[in-house]
This record gives sequence, C-alpha cells and structure tokens, in this order.
Amino acid sequence: MTRVSVIGCGNMGGAFLKGLAQSDSHHLIAIDLDPEALEAVEADATETTDDIDAARETDVVILAVKPSIVEIVLDDLDLSGDQTLITIAAGVSREFVANRTDASVVRIMPNLAAETRDMAAAATEDGLTDEVRELLDDVGEYIEIDEELMDISTAVNGSGPAFAFYLIDAMKDAGVEGGLEPEQAETLAAQTFKGAAETVLRDDRSVDELIDAVCSPNGTTIEGMEVLWDSSADKAVIDAVGAAERRSKELAEAFDDE
Ligand SMILES: NC(=O)c1ccc[n+]([C@@H]2O[C@H](COP(=O)([O-])OP(=O)(O)OC[C@H]3O[C@@H](n4cnc5c(N)ncnc54)[C@H](OP(=O)(O)O)[C@@H]3O)[C@@H](O)[C@H]2O)c1
Repeated sequence: MTRVSVIGCGNMGGAFLKGLAQSDSHHLIAIDLDPEALEAVEADATETTDDIDAARETDVVILAVKPSIVEIVLDDLDLSGDQTLITIAAGVSREFVANRTDASVVRIMPNLAAETRDMAAAATEDGLTDEVRELLDDVGEYIEIDEELMDISTAVNGSGPAFAFYLIDAMKDAGVEGGLEPEQAETLAAQTFKGAAETVLRDDRSVDELIDAVCSPNGTTIEGMEVLWDSSADKAVIDAVGAAERRSKELAEAFDDE
C-alpha cells in the first residue's frame, strides 16, 4: 500500500483524493490549514491533518496549493531523498521545486477529472517513478513529456475541461432550441461527448474515419458536418488553446529560478 499525502485539499487536491480513494490501494493523508477543506475530504482520506510534518511519513507527496503558495509551503516542508514530490502547480518549473526540497521531484499537469478517474495528465519524464506511474494509472490516462511542452499541456488538458464544457453547452442549447427539456438535452449532449471520447481512445480508426462512419450518404450527419467544415469552429478551438498556452508561459516567467 503506497502512502500518499496531499498538501492543499481544494479543487485539484480534493479531486486526487476522491479518485485515489476509489482504488483502496493507498493510505491517503490529507493536509490543509483550512478546517473546512479537510472536512470536505474526510470521507476520502484515511487521515486528515493541518500538520504539514505528516507528509514526511509518506512515499509520495502531492503538492496541490496555488502556485503563489508553493515556495512558502516548500520552506516548511522537510522531505527526504527517498520520497517523491509531485508538483502540479501551473507555471512552476520542476527545477524551482527541486531546488527547494531533498525529495525527487516530478512535475505533472493534471485535471479535475481525477475525481471520476478520467483524468488526462502529462508528466515530466524527469523524476517520473513507477510508483507515480501507478498512481496516475489509477486515476486516468497520462502521457510522458519533456518539460518544455508543459505550457501546451496546461492549455490542452489542464484548461481543456472548461473548453469541453463550453462545447457541450452549445450542443445542449441546440437541443433545447429543438424542443428538449434542458436536463434531457444536457444528458444527451454530455453522454454523447463522453461516448465519442471513449471511441477515440479505444478505436484504432482515425478521427476522420470515425466521422465517415457516422455520416451515411445523403443522411443527417453529413448535412451538419458540411456546416462545421465550412465554419471556423476548429480555428476558434485552436485559438482558445493558444491563448491559454500563452498565459501559461506568462505565468511561468514569475517562477524562473536563478
Ligand atoms: N483547478 C484545476 O483545474 C487545476 C488543474 C491543473 C492544475 N492545477 C493546479 O493545482 C493547484 C491547486 O489548484 P486548486 O484549483 O485546487 O486551488 P484551491 O482550490 O485554492 O486549493 C488549494 C488548497 O490549498 C490550501 N492551502 C493554502 N495554503 C496552504 C498551506 N500552507 N498548507 C496547506 N494547504 C494550504 C488552500 O486553503 P485556502 O483556501 O484556505 O487558501 C486550498 O484548500 C494549483 O497550483 C493549480 O495550478 C489546478
């Protein structure tokens, strides 16, 4: 059983705790200074505490505080060389963290779907151990990347859930306009995105081939696809990801070390 501590039990720390709790293969210590945050994760954590020293008893430490707090927490955190520290703070380099701890450090860009074990994550090749790979496998899918690709990962899978929510909402609105109840339209739109995503992940065919498979000649889908192909919908998505990537780079400048 791997002992894992999560420092900062807000949105992302809470999502990790909820996802990891479902596999029963981790002893989970939740650490936060805010009693309400600890209360919110009580059902998922094995232990909750406001004592940061509890992290010293764990194999893996997930640092899930806001980027602006990372340095303050690292100053208080006394880890040893046989521990692994996972940093998930957007824009904070692996080196910035590694310079402030004896633990081995891996940087990860996760997303909130850790909660349902559907997380898409990117991990730096540097510092990635089998223990961390198993932990990431437990809560979703991950890829291994060079750290210089962390800004595009931040945009695609860190910010990506918001972009996907937006697209699901547009599909829902179309359903409501056509006469469906809002709840019905939301179920159909969200489940359709979920099913389509599963197909892309599990099917060997390319996305173009999958589109072809849905489009029968002279049918309904091809009529809709013609509208999308003639539009700049793909460009709007590319621009949104680009804007998030640029912002990630800007934020990272504040954490350029030495
Ligand atoms: N949210 C996302 O979708 C997402 C995606 C990818 C990466 N991330 C990264 O994940 C990190 C956390 O983001 P978040 O959205 O989860 O933030 P959040 O909801 O604000 O959670 C941070 C938690 O840390 C607590 N905290 C603050 N100082 C602390 C300390 N000294 N010791 C222990 N706990 C402390 C906060 O308590 P208070 O509220 O009392 O300050 C809060 O409960 C960020 O670095 C972010 O870049 C987030």
